[in-house]
Amino acid sequence: MTRLHQFIFLISILIVVAATAFQPAEMAPQTSEDLGRLLFEDPILSSDQSISCASCHIPAFAFSDTSAVSLGVGGQKGSRNTPAVTNMSARSAFFWDGRAGTLEQQVVQPIENPVEMNLPLPIALERLRGSARYKGFFQAIYGRQPDSLTLADALASFIRTLETGNTPFDRWMRGNDTAMSAAAVRGRQIFMTTGKCFDCHFSPDFTGDEFRNIGLFDGKTLNDPGRFAITKDSSDLGKFKVPGLRNIAVTGPYMHDGSFRTLREVIDYYDQPDKFVTHSLNRDTLLAKPLGLTEQNKQDLEAFLLALTDKRWE
Ligand code: HEC
Ligand code: HEC
Repeated sequence: MTRLHQFIFLISILIVVAATAFQPAEMAPQTSEDLGRLLFEDPILSSDQSISCASCHIPAFAFSDTSAVSLGVGGQKGSRNTPAVTNMSARSAFFWDGRAGTLEQQVVQPIENPVEMNLPLPIALERLRGSARYKGFFQAIYGRQPDSLTLADALASFIRTLETGNTPFDRWMRGNDTAMSAAAVRGRQIFMTTGKCFDCHFSPDFTGDEFRNIGLFDGKTLNDPGRFAITKDSSDLGKFKVPGLRNIAVTGPYMHDGSFRTLREVIDYYDQPDKFVTHSLNRDTLLAKPLGLTEQNKQDLEAFLLALTDKRWE
């Protein structure tokens, strides 16, 4: 080696050493919400470390999935459509059948569900405790090692940050008359009156958190009993949690089974449910007769539903 080569060699070593020494450390999460986001996106919580919460609750689609049913570990199929998990803070029941009463109870269930992440909670916690990184994060935020309470708190805290309210509809409600199109304004009127939508989809998030049966149950091909599976009360057969409608434009396909691909199909269904399901059982009396919507009504109603999309997904 010439002197010049020696010099260049030395400088390169110095650069490598310096780069390693000054590599920015991973930004440690500062809050339970930040820690929850890391966990939500980390496949560490699935048995074969292949999927995370975000694999099914995809951020680009308002934290829902684009297929009728999502695939869990090993490509296993669940039986229900993945709901969007925005605007969960005010909910009083979780899952389509309301089997969890709080977000903290809800968020650990997908980890153990055999067709979702398929990882017993004790093993998930062992993994987190075995990770120097997560051990440090939990210690810094909760002052203790990962356990079922802190894991549930972190995930639930993150989900509570996913509140959305910056939509044309909200701007219109605050007095900006041009925020919604004329069609959407007419659609809102239909939503509140002849469409009867508001009878079930009310409150700021368009759900009263009740369980209702819109007719997607016939005991044969449509045989998910919904709320009945939890209460065993026959009046609950085929009832599902009324979903909120914020960001509905980006969360298709729709319904507990993902059976409707588009909002137009949903509207056509409500207009004439019998055309789609001939012998539904226990259907809500609100939907006893066809609504009699015109083509214009349907387009207006769809325009209103589109106006419920937060700026983040416009
Ligand atoms: C394999 C896909 C899949 C994965 C992975 C998954 N979920 Fe879900 N999630 C679903 C489905 C499907 C439902 C509805 C199930 C039901 O109602 O029976 C659901 C429901 C929920 C709900 C209730 C929403 C509501 O409207 O009631 C929340 C909250 C939620 N998941 C959070 C999470 C969290 C947190 C994780 C990660 C720990 C996670 N999910 C992982 C598919 C998934
Ligand atoms: C009797 C109560 C009731 C009425 C009336 C009603 N809905 Fe619903 N809505 C529900 C329930 C319950 C579900 C979930 C049903 C299921 O999955 O089986 C639902 C689901 C939906 C969905 C799919 C949401 C998703 O995330 O998959 C949309 C969109 C919707 N309704 C819009 C409307 C519109 C528009 C109207 C008026 C034309 C309306 N609803 C009238 C109770 C009602």
